[in-house]
Amino acid sequence: MIKTVLTLSCLIISLAGPTQAASQSPLPKGYSGWKKSVRKVVTDKKSLFYGIHYIYADPKAMQGYRAGNRFPEGSRIIVEHFTIKADNPAVDGSKNMVVLMQKDKRQQATGGWLYAGYTAQGRSSGLDTVQNCFSCHQKEVASRDYVFSGIQDFK
Ligand code: HEC
Repeated sequence: MIKTVLTLSCLIISLAGPTQAASQSPLPKGYSGWKKSVRKVVTDKKSLFYGIHYIYADPKAMQGYRAGNRFPEGSRIIVEHFTIKADNPAVDGSKNMVVLMQKDKRQQATGGWLYAGYTAQGRSSGLDTVQNCFSCHQKEVASRDYVFSGIQDFK
């Protein structure tokens, strides 16, 4: 199980282009006070999200979810990801990744969203976000303003 997580992290790191500048956007402070999603457990080991995660949405992002995934400028959505203990998925493992999407109309190459990845400690993981983030969100959910989750995740 730990091996799977490590393999994934290595995959993500190796996909990042060597010349790509690390995203410098700091992780927004106080996001733990935002609206928190239901607990989401992914037991498919092939999934990038294998483990347990929670989505946090700020008030603007909540407006966007309520409007059927039409997000106003400035909306911020964060996912905190935890490892999963194979013998007991009821308990969160250790935090191993945090990701952010922030609606920013200057980010034309990534659909008007800024994407950023962080370590568990909140340091930038320096990924090429076009290749490692936007490609998947674009392919799967362009028609939902590039956001997979929906208002049903916040019930
Ligand atoms: C292989 C596909 C894939 C890649 C690559 C990917 N994501 Fe996602 N992302 C998803 C899925 C699926 C969800 C929905 C999880 C859920 O519904 O609980 C998601 C959810 C999110 C969310 C919460 C908003 C939403 O869309 O539901 C954010 C923020 C996010 N991802 C950021 C990132 C960032 C930053 C990266 C790059 C470091 C990234 N993602 C890479 C598939 C991907």
